[in-house]
Amino acid sequence: MTHTRIVGTGGYLPAKVLTNRDLESMVDTSDEWIYTRTGIRQRHVAADDECTSDLAFAASSKAIAAAGITPQDIDLIIVATTTPDMIFPSTACILQAKLGIKHCPAFDVQAVCSGFIYALTVADKFMRCGQVRHALVVGAEIYSRIIDWKDRGTCVLFGDGAGAVVLKADDTPGILSCHLHADGSHQKILSVPGTVCGGKVQGSPFVRMEGNAVFKFAVKVLDDIVEEALAHNNMQKSQIDWLIPHQANIRILQSTAKKLGLNMDKVVVTVDRHGNTSAASIPLALDEAVRDGRIQSGHHVLLEGVGGGFTWGAVLIRW
Ligand code: ACO
Repeated sequence: MTHTRIVGTGGYLPAKVLTNRDLESMVDTSDEWIYTRTGIRQRHVAADDECTSDLAFAASSKAIAAAGITPQDIDLIIVATTTPDMIFPSTACILQAKLGIKHCPAFDVQAVCSGFIYALTVADKFMRCGQVRHALVVGAEIYSRIIDWKDRGTCVLFGDGAGAVVLKADDTPGILSCHLHADGSHQKILSVPGTVCGGKVQGSPFVRMEGNAVFKFAVKVLDDIVEEALAHNNMQKSQIDWLIPHQANIRILQSTAKKLGLNMDKVVVTVDRHGNTSAASIPLALDEAVRDGRIQSGHHVLLEGVGGGFTWGAVLIRW
């Protein structure tokens, strides 16, 4: 049976850094409030002439180089994003053109902050059925463009960035299991309710969130998904070497770590420097921990995330 291994990772953050201090001059907030409630100190913001596919291209180029392959070796591209360059073509197709390749299937997955977990799961299915030798899976977002910069309840939380992985078909895992869920009945507490109709934006094009309700929902489903992934693999909590959660709020990360009995030094944390980069947050954190040598061959790595939809999921990997 064919399995999926991650053989290259890459990340990209736009050059501009927006600190909590910068935000103090934009809305009624403070560095102390933001850091205490979220663990965030700063986030990156894309330049006006940068689009999501540019961020995706930069991250992908690094992942492809790390994998020791060329773009021509890629058989499948999946981009997880909630902030595509345009309504169509998909950001994955635009990325394909920027990579200078043709013919391989390319499409976007929209599952908000769980997008990378969803995209990785879909790619894993393609790999397991033997159709694909190398897949490129990307999480890329420019949330700064769907944020109301006058709303202190949301504008302090998000940032821009991209992370990418190259997957290779292999005889041994790799990805041990993938677990996805959704519950579409909670739109009221987290959404961007606007759309384009008749040439005009209809409704609000900005993130709306009831932070407290989202927080409670996130903690509950992340606890459940961690249990589900461990039970499926007949593994104990103590066998997890690294937890790579979606980076929304340090208090959510701490809660999941506590549930797993993991010290925080076994949790990869980027939220302090990146903020919440939605679908990009997990591959960015993964890339950081691979490149600085924390993740080593044979380690068990648990990726997990929750986002608008609601969607949530986990992927358990033997590195
Ligand atoms: N600065 C100062 N005060 C603020 C700010 C701010 N930036 N934002 C809100 N406040 C105020 C509120 O107005 C409120 O004031 P009041 O008591 O006078 O009414 C007070 O702070 C407390 O507000 P809460 O919303 O109750 O604060 P809470 O402790 O819940 O923290 C937060 C808010 C950080 C948003 C938290 O709820 C959270 O992280 N939620 C989860 C977010 C998440 O996980 N998102 C993941 C998915 S995102 C996606 O899928 C796109």
